[in-house]
Order: sequence, then C-alpha cells, then structure tokens
Amino acid sequence: MSLTEHIELEELQSRLHRARRLVVLTGAGMSAESGIPTFRDAMTGLWSRVDPAALASEEGFRADTARVWAWYAERREGVRQAEPNAGHRALADYARRHPGRLTVITQNVDDLHQRAGHTDTIRLHGDILADQWLDPCPRRGGPPCDTDWARPGQPPHCNECGNLVRPAVVWFGENLPLAALNAAEAAADAAELMLVVGTSGAVWPAAGLAARARRAGAWVAIVNPHPSEIDGDADQIVRGTAAGVLPVLLAAG
Ligand code: OAD
Repeated sequence: MSLTEHIELEELQSRLHRARRLVVLTGAGMSAESGIPTFRDAMTGLWSRVDPAALASEEGFRADTARVWAWYAERREGVRQAEPNAGHRALADYARRHPGRLTVITQNVDDLHQRAGHTDTIRLHGDILADQWLDPCPRRGGPPCDTDWARPGQPPHCNECGNLVRPAVVWFGENLPLAALNAAEAAADAAELMLVVGTSGAVWPAAGLAARARRAGAWVAIVNPHPSEIDGDADQIVRGTAAGVLPVLLAAG
C-alpha cells in the first residue's frame, strides 16, 4: 500500500468513527474470499460460464425446471460449505460493539452475514437456501401449503395441485421484496457514511443506493479490487478486498 493510500485509509477510518449512521452495501465480492463465486468477474464469475436468462429467470425455470433446480442445488451446497470470512466477521463485530449504528444491506443470497452474527442484514435479492412456490397456491380460504411438505423431486412439487418449488431468490425481471427495498432506501437516506463492498454496480435498483446516499449527504466509499460501474458515485475508492480492508477499517473504535 502506498503512503497516499495509507493516509486515505486512515482518513476513512476516522470518518467512520465519527459517523453516527453507517451503511454497508455488499455484493458478491463480499463472499468471494469465502469461496463463493461472483457473477461478473472474468473467468471465475458465474455469468461467464452460464446464461443468466436460462438459469436466473422465471422463463428459464419453466423451460427446463430440472436443469435450473440442479444448478441451484449445487450453489446451495457451495453456500452451506462456505464459512464467513474476516470481512463478514468484522462487520458483525462492529455491529455488536456499536448497537443501532450499522445497517448492512446485501445483494447476496448466501447467509454469511447472518452466520457471522449480523442477523438483521437487509436482503435485497432473497435467500438461496429458502424455498417458495412458483405459482400462487390455489387453496382458497386456508393458509397456502407449506413448501416443506412438497413431494421430493427435481424440483419438488405439490402432491395436490402440481405447483413447483423454486428457490426464494429474486430472478431477472422480478421485483425486489418491497419491505427490504424500503428499509434499504431509508437507511441510505439516513446514512452519514456508506461503504460499498464487492459489487460491480451493474444491477438496479441496488446499484442506485450509493448515489442516493451521497445525494442525501453521506460520504460514499467503495471497497473493491477492481473498477465498478458506480465508481463515479463515490467520494473515495479503496482498492482492496473485503476480507483485507474491512477488518482494518472497522478494527478500533
Ligand atoms: P458481481 O459479480 O457483478 O460483482 C462482483 C464485484 O466484486 C466485482 O466488482 C469484483 O471486482 C468485486 N470483487 C471480487 N472479489 C472481491 C473481493 N475479494 N473483495 C471485494 N470485492 C471483490 O456481483 P454483484 O455486484 O453482487 O443478482 O451482482 C449483483 C447481482 O447480480 C447479484 O445480486 C445477482 C447477480 O445477477 C441476483 O441474484 C438477483
């Protein structure tokens, strides 16, 4: 690290200690050092190997349910085997030391923030380990069938109506969960400092949260080893990795 980079990091650290409301927006790069592949990194990113439209959309699922289910089963296994890295742990420790001060918003569908101990992470893109029905449950007047009761298969399905189980993630063309989006926007509006960690900034509306926070007066810093599409929305860029930078940045205080 050069002397200028060192000074800039120290300045960011002292801004962070002064900020009463800190928001951290994370993307796939947050979990890269836990061994979960990102989407858009050249060669290693998931979307460099498979077609997102075929595997991460309702149309793709309906066209080949077994293939999509198998792809998610493999990703679920990868998430279950992964462990939170030093970056996830640094965020959770910071939240414990400073109750009510840190909001974590993630685009990630893994549960590594939660397993590190930050249980109230705002999840914009859903939860890959959870299931939901593909279509609305046709049962009238009663609660919908529980997906846990689905008949095993590729994918599991309802014994009565044939409804299919799908992963509870946001696919291309779908809306974000409204409560999560509202909470994320409110946090961005109230932030005094926002760290944007490990996202390419290519997917909206999540990518717009950095500019939104900055418009509302926050200092926005990006932590990413590579350029992102929203570098222009930041006041400061730290070229480093999540597990390398966050423990340093959030250490004392
Ligand atoms: P991307 O794969 O688009 O971007 C990952 C970013 O992480 C890149 O900018 C990398 O440079 C950076 N990166 C890689 N390793 C890193 C590390 N160790 N530390 C910090 N940064 C690192 O992932 P997202 O921006 O999260 O949508 O993608 C957004 C959405 O697109 C995802 O949530 C997913 C995908 O389609 C859904 O699942 C709905």
